[in-house]
Amino acid sequence: MASTEDKAANKENVSSWKDSIYNPRTGELLGRTASSWALILLFYLVFYCFLAGMFALTMWVMLLTLDDYVPRYRDRVPHPGLVIRPNSLDITFNKSDPLKYAQYVQHLESFLQKYNDTEQEKNEDCPQGEYFLQDDTEEMTKKACRFKRGSLSFCSGLSDTNFGYSEGKPCVLLKMNRIIGLKPRGDPYINCTVKRESPIQMQYFPSEGRIDKMYFPYYGKKAHENYVQPLVAVKLLLTKEDYNKELPVECRVEGSDLRNNDDRDKFLGRVTFRIKVVE
Ligand SMILES: *[C@@H]1O[C@H](CO)[C@@H](O)[C@H](O)[C@H]1NC(C)=O
Ligand SMILES: *[C@@H]1O[C@H](CO)[C@@H](O)[C@H](O)[C@H]1NC(C)=O
Ligand SMILES: *[C@@H]1O[C@H](CO)[C@@H](O)[C@H](O)[C@H]1NC(C)=O
Repeated sequence: MASTEDKAANKENVSSWKDSIYNPRTGELLGRTASSWALILLFYLVFYCFLAGMFALTMWVMLLTLDDYVPRYRDRVPHPGLVIRPNSLDITFNKSDPLKYAQYVQHLESFLQKYNDTEQEKNEDCPQGEYFLQDDTEEMTKKACRFKRGSLSFCSGLSDTNFGYSEGKPCVLLKMNRIIGLKPRGDPYINCTVKRESPIQMQYFPSEGRIDKMYFPYYGKKAHENYVQPLVAVKLLLTKEDYNKELPVECRVEGSDLRNNDDRDKFLGRVTFRIKVVE
């Protein structure tokens, strides 16, 4: 007896469960009529369009306040780091084996492409020894001062395409990181030393390792498109006695207010690298 009653109840349950998906009598789908569903879909469509609109509007207002040419947040001008090319803090090569120094020579050559004399003809011939200040009111794109690789003389890769590596007197290029608005006071120059008893002769290009003020200030990537950083080349005039030894070389920016002795950041205004030549 009980079992037939259960069956009847079961049947009812099943039919009501089926009805809850689709009820043919009222035409309801999942308990709602088609028009009710249409309203709900419409509501969500409008709601999400509104949210997307809000997002786009805020974004647009945000972007309007940004200026492509001037970075927005700039509290104080930081001090620049010093970097070397070839991009290695451990330069080791065999001066009699071109394969060993080819990577350094290639790196220097490709790095100097944008300093090509013909390429630099497009840039300004700026007056030496003074900042190249450009007004904001002038056209937005700033002019850049010329730096020809020819001024690196024996380290330009023009007269000696091996940058001295084949004669065991290698050239290293130094540059400061670009910093927007930086105006170093004094007359910055690069001074390199080898920590050893007998000093090693070095040649600097441009003369005395000077970094001219005309390359400052830098106005930023977009505004100052053709800007090239000034370079200083150092040629280490190593002799036979200096071969087969790992020589620690330290270069610093001196003669200016640029920091070069920060305890925490050993690349601020200075760089230390090792050089070893074998024959
Ligand atoms: C340097 O290269 C030359 C020529 O390939 C070779 O004779 C010499 O043994 C090399 N020196 C060292 C220290 O590997
Ligand atoms: C740079 O100059 C060298 C030699 O004058 C030339 O071979 C090279 O193609 C030039 N590169 C560019 C990018 O102008
Ligand atoms: C370069 O630095 C060394 C060591 O600090 C110093 O003795 C030398 O006078 C400096 N040279 C120049 C030109 O400043």
